Amino acid sequence: MDLVRWCSLLVFWFCLAHEGASGLCFQYHHQAELKHYLHWVSKTYPHITHLYSIGQSREGRELRVLVIGQYPKEHRVGIPEVRYIGNMHGNEPVGRELLLHFIDLLVSQYGKMKTITSLVHNTRIHILPSMNPDGFEMSVPGVCSGVDGRYNNNGVDLNRNFPDLFSINQVTREPETLAVMRWTDMETFVLSANLHGGAVVAAYPYDNNESGKSRYTKSPDDDVFRYLASIYSINHRRMFKGNLCQMSFPGGVVNGASWYTLIGSLQDYGYIWTHCYELTIEVSCCKYPSAEWLQFYWAENKKALIQFITHVHLGVKGRVLDDKQNPIANTSVLVMGRDDVMPYKTNQLGEYYKILMPGSYTFRVESPGYVPLMVNIHVKDTSHMYTATIHDFTLHRQIS
Ligand SMILES: *[C@@H]1O[C@H](CO)[C@@H](O)[C@H](O)[C@H]1NC(C)=O
Ligand SMILES: *[C@@H]1O[C@H](CO)[C@@H](O)[C@H](O)[C@H]1NC(C)=O
Ligand SMILES: [Zn+2]
Repeated sequence: MDLVRWCSLLVFWFCLAHEGASGLCFQYHHQAELKHYLHWVSKTYPHITHLYSIGQSREGRELRVLVIGQYPKEHRVGIPEVRYIGNMHGNEPVGRELLLHFIDLLVSQYGKMKTITSLVHNTRIHILPSMNPDGFEMSVPGVCSGVDGRYNNNGVDLNRNFPDLFSINQVTREPETLAVMRWTDMETFVLSANLHGGAVVAAYPYDNNESGKSRYTKSPDDDVFRYLASIYSINHRRMFKGNLCQMSFPGGVVNGASWYTLIGSLQDYGYIWTHCYELTIEVSCCKYPSAEWLQFYWAENKKALIQFITHVHLGVKGRVLDDKQNPIANTSVLVMGRDDVMPYKTNQLGEYYKILMPGSYTFRVESPGYVPLMVNIHVKDTSHMYTATIHDFTLHRQIS
């Protein structure tokens, strides 16, 4: 072993031993270190963080989520829930580490940097650094391509394991998939991205097409998705160039199905079934680069990770109330001209969130027993103010 190698090993052990007190190391964090770090953060920043588990992997590893927000323990009316998911493919762990550095940035700069403080104040940010910890432990550092470690412990590709709109996906749902599905039922997620490797591009729904052929497959919110994907891409140091990893993606964005179709992706599931705007972000040509590269990837993704979730504050949000100001849950909130596959329904607090490009929209709000309502709403870009345009609807009882 040469001197340089000795030194870097020394730095590595010193870094891990002092992690927390002096920031986060640019090293891969295995399950025990991940657990240690998340616990340390939640103990050190209890007023803005909350640590919880959404379940266990097949081999029993905890799927830990750290929330960062002004009210980290619970949802508050008007504060949108956003989410990042890393390492769904076990051998694509750059996202796992990016998310730890993202956590580090949010907690350490809260109260110091204005943009971070405003973001944390007005957004509840959930971070699942690893959706596939079993696959990660089976993966080999330095292997840039291939599928060793991609799957979970049962040999299943988790990004093919969700319900699908275009094809019947009659597969056994894995514990990791079910955990994410239960999680999406628990919270009203508005915006989310899952991070991958093997390319550098921001992909958006749909991922599948009824023909099974690779064709651009537009969702009703195609304009919004193209914009959200471009927000990631242009705030990334290189992604917008669109010519990385010997691939061509104009603007650094791509419609999932126009690249290749896949059945049972999280992206399509999240968007169609849970009304969460979900994107798939590929962050490195090499799937499992050596740890020396992590600082480089963090530098090029840092601004994009911040800007992307800030854009949850674009569009309209509010509540559906009766004439006594009581919230009405399970009410359809529809935007004319963009027909949801599953009609958008308000949550238990009567809330709805729609990310929309600036412009004028006609909303139709309807609930059994109430007079349907049609309202025009003008949307401005308010993302820099950390709040969508607020509009509450009041429904009146139908007189029978
Ligand atoms: C699926 O692809 C076909 C072309 O093969 C296209 O005509 C169709 O519009 C696509 N489906 C959707 C929902 O865009
Ligand atoms: C919501 O409303 C639909 C009809 O619009 C109804 O079928 C469904 O059972 C309701 N769900 C809940 C949770 O109330
Ligand atoms: Zn992947």
